[in-house]
Amino acid sequence: MVRQSVDFQDFVDEVLGKTDIVDLISRYVTLKRVGNRFQALCPLHNDKKTPSFSVSPDKQLFHCFGCGAGGTAIHFIMQKENLDFMEAVKLLAERAGIPIPDYRSSSERAKAAEIHNKKKRMYEMNAEAARFFFANLTSKSGEGALGYLKRRGLSNSTIKSFGLGYAPDSWTALIDFMKTKGYAETELLEAGLAVKRDNDTYFDKFRDRVMFPILDLRGNVIAFGGRIMTDKDNAPKYLNSPETLVFKKKDNLFAMNIAKNSKAGQFLVMEGYMDVISLHQNGFDNAVASLGTAFTPQQAEILKRYADKAVLCYDADEAGQKAADRAGGIMREANIKCRVLTITDGKDPDEYINAKGKEMFELLVDNAESFIEYKIGKIEKQYNLEDTVEKIEFIEQIAKILANIKNDVEREVYIKKTARKTDISPASITAQVENLMRKNQKGEQLKAQRDEKRAFEARTGGRQDLDRMRLYNAEKLMLNLICEPEIFKTVSDKLKPEEFTEGIHRRLAEIIYRTHQNGEKIRPMQIISEFDEADTGTVSEILSDDKNVENKAEAAKMPLKIIKEFYLKQAAMTEQTDAAKLQEIMDKLKKDKKQKGEK
Ligand code: GTP
Ligand code: MN
Repeated sequence: MVRQSVDFQDFVDEVLGKTDIVDLISRYVTLKRVGNRFQALCPLHNDKKTPSFSVSPDKQLFHCFGCGAGGTAIHFIMQKENLDFMEAVKLLAERAGIPIPDYRSSSERAKAAEIHNKKKRMYEMNAEAARFFFANLTSKSGEGALGYLKRRGLSNSTIKSFGLGYAPDSWTALIDFMKTKGYAETELLEAGLAVKRDNDTYFDKFRDRVMFPILDLRGNVIAFGGRIMTDKDNAPKYLNSPETLVFKKKDNLFAMNIAKNSKAGQFLVMEGYMDVISLHQNGFDNAVASLGTAFTPQQAEILKRYADKAVLCYDADEAGQKAADRAGGIMREANIKCRVLTITDGKDPDEYINAKGKEMFELLVDNAESFIEYKIGKIEKQYNLEDTVEKIEFIEQIAKILANIKNDVEREVYIKKTARKTDISPASITAQVENLMRKNQKGEQLKAQRDEKRAFEARTGGRQDLDRMRLYNAEKLMLNLICEPEIFKTVSDKLKPEEFTEGIHRRLAEIIYRTHQNGEKIRPMQIISEFDEADTGTVSEILSDDKNVENKAEAAKMPLKIIKEFYLKQAAMTEQTDAAKLQEIMDKLKKDKKQKGEK
């Protein structure tokens, strides 16, 4: 639903009004009530020690002393979900069931519509090209290509279901065809189907190649891979579409549009188009490939939406094994249970299944070892466990891997296995692993502490000078206190907003003074909205921090004194320098006089 002409600030206020910050944050972290606020380990930074995160239900603000983050529910969502302001407001609006108005300017709306249309046209263009390539395969010009695919063992129905095709041996066959369909050369260029020469003429990107269409999850054709049929030294084996408006390599997986519907409960991740197609033809409808690049975290996220298990079926060569190593690490990060299949006969899954058949491949899948086991196995090959020194080194290497396993049970399984393998007691291996874990944790803690310190320095402009820090804190406390009208009354004639030394404090003071002087109520959430996103942490810390003071009127005296002292000291310093200067002049005069008298 789209609403229009609602004032943006009103909309934000409505969203915040219908969002309870305590309810929202308690979905991410356990909040503990302490007095009139809630406490938790900060869900926004690596908070392991003290609960530095605080939520105020009265003010509907949160703040973390550790990382300096703070603000309204919107700011929390922005940081937690890594969204921009508008996205966070939208998410909270949806959550609260508030219809979202369309705030985009007409030019922004026009631009979005233009991109939408361009994408739509690009999908249509790619689909048209795929039909053209497919039609060629069964025409006279495609005889060679069809023969090639047949020789590689593909059936008619596989060729059809993957929409394989042939790009003719011509410079303009596709361009000519697409022109009859109403597409311009410039559009073909943008879609990655044509290439521009220096003299502004165009030619087909794919020529005399077997074509593999790449589809997105919804089944749109978004790109192509083209394979040469006879290996040549000066031409790449595969030519792939460049990145376009609709094709981002890192966000797509070949055959995922089919594999996402598989009932297998796990994916078989491989390197090549041909591997995937062969596997599908043999009944493995869960095979996908990572489009000729290294497996990406984005691809892991896509897999994770459909299943949390995967088997890596990478090539047996060294490059393939390296790629499997990296992919496995990414999968574990994404919490995908990952196993590694080792091809024993042949170079890749396609060759294997053609040579040995699907039952044998099934066996390989069933016996694929876990990623950790696979990594241990690789290290094992480098050491002679009969040799004591090598055995010790081996265990050191293994301990490094095991120390990174977060699941206790899983870790113990591998500790036991390693113990059996090396004939060393599980207890001493455990000790070694736990030692490393402590070190890792210490490293993380140190890093967290460093981050905290850095965040503090960033907030205070790197000033560590104690007096300065005292003044800075005094100003913060004072700003917090003068939100109360009674305290404001006792302070406002003694301290002016421009006397706050920090720019951001000064601005905040001006707003607080103005609000009180207009006889309005202080609304922290509204005040925060007057500051840049970068400052919301500082401002919300000041406004939401429960200073735990009993007698508030009394409490204002101390910071007032500190701020006033600062100005007194400054004045004294200027006086001092003035006095020193005066003395200097007098001395000089005296000297001059003396010299004159002497003459
Ligand atoms: P076949 O030789 O047809 O069996 O290829 P394959 O599927 O076994 O591919 P291979 O293992 O050689 O390469 C894996 C993937 O990397 C391919 O599916 C392509 O996506 C990509 N690739 C391979 N060769 C090239 C190349 O020369 N250029 C580019 N850009 N990508 C390539
Ligand atoms: Mn191959």
